[in-house]
Amino acid sequence: MEKTIDESKQGQHLVLEQKEGNTRKLFIESYGCAMNFSDSEIVASILSEQGFNTTQSLEDADLVLVNTCSIRDKAEQTVRKRLEKYNAVKRINPKMKVGVLGCMAERLKTKFLEEEKIVDLVVGPDAYKDLPNLLAEVDEGRDAINVILSKEETYGDIAPVRLNSNGVTAFVSITRGCDNMCTFCVVPFTRGRERSRDPQSIIEEVNDLWSKGYKEITLLGQNVDSYLWYGGGLKKDFVKASDMQKATAVNFAQLLELCAKAQPKMRIRFSTSNPQDLTLDVIETMAKYDNICKHIHLPVQSGSNRILKEMNRLHTREEYFELIDHIRRILPECAISQDLISGFPTETEQDHQDTLSLMDYVKYNFGYMFTYSERPGTMAERKMEDDVPEDTKKRRLAEIVQRQREHSEIRTKEYLNTTVEVLIERQSKKSEDQWSGRTSQNIVAVFPKEHYNIGDLVNVHVKDCTSATLIGTALGYSKYN
Ligand code: SAH
Ligand code: F3S
Repeated sequence: MEKTIDESKQGQHLVLEQKEGNTRKLFIESYGCAMNFSDSEIVASILSEQGFNTTQSLEDADLVLVNTCSIRDKAEQTVRKRLEKYNAVKRINPKMKVGVLGCMAERLKTKFLEEEKIVDLVVGPDAYKDLPNLLAEVDEGRDAINVILSKEETYGDIAPVRLNSNGVTAFVSITRGCDNMCTFCVVPFTRGRERSRDPQSIIEEVNDLWSKGYKEITLLGQNVDSYLWYGGGLKKDFVKASDMQKATAVNFAQLLELCAKAQPKMRIRFSTSNPQDLTLDVIETMAKYDNICKHIHLPVQSGSNRILKEMNRLHTREEYFELIDHIRRILPECAISQDLISGFPTETEQDHQDTLSLMDYVKYNFGYMFTYSERPGTMAERKMEDDVPEDTKKRRLAEIVQRQREHSEIRTKEYLNTTVEVLIERQSKKSEDQWSGRTSQNIVAVFPKEHYNIGDLVNVHVKDCTSATLIGTALGYSKYN
């Protein structure tokens, strides 16, 4: 499971928008992070110009695309299993073509075509604009591959086809790639160097979403706070930019402000923040605008200074606490969430205790927790032995998860007998008489439907809660509705 995309959505492939006159059928499903789900919308957009409409039925598809994740071994195994399923369908419909997109395509390259006979097409995350050419090859019966990583590509000029949309919330990607080189992470290898998207095209997308009725956007990047537009090109090449480019550059705090001002009633979220890049300017901008949601996803990975160093995370435990203190001071109502890894190479019992004590200090609202999974080609894989036994990793993870559960419960209880603002997103999974939405802090809230509708912003009085969900009744529309 990856942040912002919950388990129930993994592999999702529902569709809404269709283009008239298109006759070919595309079945596309996505695994992994929000960026992959966003990329699939770009792919659907490119292919809708090639005569493809999306279908929910695998059996009917002319083309099956799977957008893949490499972050942990388990994510890759899930995709391998899906390929077996496609294989079974292909036996009945031999004309069906199968393509692999995303991080596994980039990581395995031609090996995919050798290992998985069913695969006709392999396309890396920066090569989706080449899909029309690649499909022409496939139509002629040849395997096709493009896994070239780009220094420029941001897909800023492509209006995504919204897939799986509730018509209320949407992702807007603002950066691609990552320059951080955390030693455990495969992303810099599969998604390439960091580059930012033209703010003009971001604002246009936000305005377009608002005009179509969307009420909340999430600005997406592997490391959003490192956003920097100076006219295009890699983040690392900014040093070579002209004085003019430097003077007119737009950083993340400025972009956030531009978005908040462009649509003052649109709720704005962002993910993911890297502690070393989250600036006071960003926190202050969040404080200045009511429509910027008060939630920061701030992965820490470990509470031990020694492990943070081995992970090449460029901050200490003390610096992280300082950042948390700033957030609490400037944004007292802000929710904070985490990513943590148990069992990184050489992690001792004391390192693990440091992680638990860091959690005690922050008391995160929620988090995403994983056991360490060694990824081929990463620095950790090349230089360190994966020496923490699997059962130790699992036991430590269970302790971390248990601690998080306790903290989530404390945090959720803080909202009892208060009024929160909820954007209605969908019917509650547990009851058809209830709406489900999220607060500014990204906490799920459920309440009786009454006369309210999906997309309404409603004040909800919280009467009860579980460790993850607020339960209440609506008091009326929010003043921002
Ligand atoms: N900055 C990225 C992080 C991507 S990876 C973002 O925007 O989401 C998401 C999370 O997966 C990381 O924060 C980390 O906690 C976890 N992760 C990454 N590589 C991992 C590995 N090799 N083993 C276990 N967990 C990993
Ligand atoms: Fe991965 Fe670290 Fe970047 S976790 S995505 S290398 S910030």
